[in-house]
Amino acid sequence: MTTSTASWTTLYRNINIATMDDGSSSYGIIEHAALAIAAGKIAWLGKESELPEFDNKTVEVIDGNNGWLTPGLIDCHTHIVYGGNRANEFELRLQGASYEEIANNGGGIVSTVNATRQASEQALFDSALKRLTAMHQQGVTTIEIKSGYGLNLETELKMLRVATRLGEALPLTIKRTFLGAHALPVEFKNDADGYIDLVVNEMLPQVCKQNLADSVDVFCEGIGFNLAQTERVFKAALDHKLSIKVHAEQLSDLGGTELAAHYQALSSDHLEFLPESGIKAMTQANMTAVLLPGAFYFLRETKLPPIEQLRANNVAMAIATDANPGSSPIHSIQLMLNMACTLFRLTPVEAIAGVTCNAAKALGIDHHCGKIKVGFDADLALWDINQVAELCYQFGVNPLVRLIQQGKRVI
Ligand code: NIG
Ligand code: FE
Repeated sequence: MTTSTASWTTLYRNINIATMDDGSSSYGIIEHAALAIAAGKIAWLGKESELPEFDNKTVEVIDGNNGWLTPGLIDCHTHIVYGGNRANEFELRLQGASYEEIANNGGGIVSTVNATRQASEQALFDSALKRLTAMHQQGVTTIEIKSGYGLNLETELKMLRVATRLGEALPLTIKRTFLGAHALPVEFKNDADGYIDLVVNEMLPQVCKQNLADSVDVFCEGIGFNLAQTERVFKAALDHKLSIKVHAEQLSDLGGTELAAHYQALSSDHLEFLPESGIKAMTQANMTAVLLPGAFYFLRETKLPPIEQLRANNVAMAIATDANPGSSPIHSIQLMLNMACTLFRLTPVEAIAGVTCNAAKALGIDHHCGKIKVGFDADLALWDINQVAELCYQFGVNPLVRLIQQGKRVI
């Protein structure tokens, strides 16, 4: 496809491209390719032999050294803003305590809530910036960040302000998700409905008024919130014109995914205990399944998400780090590519689709992001690899040579 070459600002030559334009059915490979950028968007791509005439006095031409260009990576599920850490719980779990036991004994999410409430906004920003920098250096150009360690108005807003500032500090697109319904704070012990009143009547209106979130998420689980409470949050979010997501079927099957499908959620995330009916509901609602191999690995889970059935039912599968202090203190999207294949048995094409086009779908930005396609954002990663599957195959040597966000080189 061609647009006027007069508007081109940058041209990458001597590259190979994995467009990811066919979703997870193929890499969409163009070898011996070139790609032009205009006004931060992809303006042309194709075989280098078919490159139209252009003015090389106004276009910056970059030799890609026969490397591979993919869409910039998208981490569509993280909790990177928090105080403290939970290394002590890691030790307890190694001695045999379960994630749920720790949560039920006052540890878990609630212990991070204490540390996050106590932390200053600047301290939260500084610690999250370190995590985000590590993720950016792995090729991430878009990341979703959830609140959910405040569980009171003041701290939830503080977390979302930090998430917003992170997007100003680093050249990354940040999508912010309000996860007020993440856990029950101690001051509402035995009154989950009362806490949900606070979430929908006070927190959510303020979050919207201050324009601090793009989506709303709920932890629908035995140690989180039940179906009726989850539904109240969904309804309130939709009233405020925010999209919805859900943490569901991670530790048990409560039916959270089916409920989310009923309300046209963008995604349901975790899904180890997802039943057949939930899969069907996801297909019908065109939802994305966000799979989190880091949490599966770190909690030493044994029950796999129903990958085979998701695939058979054409549910788009995304992969994310779930970076958080309790269940996945892991900040490497490259490691997730490897674990998606080794632990979840995704093919390398599915794994890469999981951090590009399908991750974009999980965030509702797939009409302009996540594929290499004319008119899409020029968010691109250039890799020193000989074949695309290398991105999933090896881990520990960073093959990223250049990262481009909105048309500009950022690494
Ligand atoms: O996605 N499931 C709930 N939330 C996080 C865990 C948060 C925590 O343990 O701090 C998750 O795994
Ligand atoms: Fe999570």
